[in-house]
Amino acid sequence: MSLIDLKNISFGYPNCGLVLSNLDFKVDEGEKIALLGGNGAGKTTLFYIILGLLSPFSGEVELFGKRCITEKDFSGPRKRIGLLFQDPDDQLFSPSVIEDVSFGPLNLGMNRKEALEISRYWLERLGILHLEKRVPYELSGGEKKLVALASVLSMGPDVLLLDEPMAGLEKRAVERFLSVLKDESFKAFVVITHMPRFLEGEITRTLFLERGRLSPVRSC
Ligand SMILES: Nc1ncnc2c1ncn2[C@@H]1O[C@H](COP(=O)(O)OP(=O)(O)OP(=O)(O)O)[C@@H](O)[C@H]1O
Ligand SMILES: [Mg+2]
Repeated sequence: MSLIDLKNISFGYPNCGLVLSNLDFKVDEGEKIALLGGNGAGKTTLFYIILGLLSPFSGEVELFGKRCITEKDFSGPRKRIGLLFQDPDDQLFSPSVIEDVSFGPLNLGMNRKEALEISRYWLERLGILHLEKRVPYELSGGEKKLVALASVLSMGPDVLLLDEPMAGLEKRAVERFLSVLKDESFKAFVVITHMPRFLEGEITRTLFLERGRLSPVRSC
């Protein structure tokens, strides 16, 4: 059974042609995938299709072995697949960083103490515990990205879908991020990036999205 299995997916936005065209995409346990492609190729769109945030014109989405069509079908898998949005402003909405990061764990049923503990653990691990009382929308771009990443990780996802996690990060922050990918045991992850060299050694497969379809890349 694949963790993610997309078959024959086609999708386009109103007034623009097909962005994804008869696309197949399978993610199996243990896979660490880099997803490359030009600006506007459809990478972010693909993540939205996987999680049911957009509905394909045709094709099938199967998550953890179950066909997903309705909102209800996607709600369980969304708790297990952590999505880091390309734009952290789409992810952050609370009046303080700690509230943002603990929102997910509280939602999953943890008590306040546990939720704060796990949130502080990830803030510390990403080197941003000092930001815990700050207002998210006042943070810098890189700081916001790290807070959004902490909020994804604090939910303990099995699978990560990370949309340009390293964009705008300083070297030390990139290193902290890579150490999370290396040391934590996620069932699988997919990282959209324009900086594939940073991921060398951390990935098992590289894919390139072009003209609506994915193709393998031998080396990046
Ligand atoms: N809400 C929208 N309405 C209309 N068109 C959209 C919308 N979102 C994206 N598009 C278009 O769909 C195409 C794919 O966009 P998408 O954001 O998936 O690309 P991407 O591969 O993530 O690009 P980037 O590397 O720049 O983030 C682009 O041509 C974009 O202009
Ligand atoms: Mg994108």
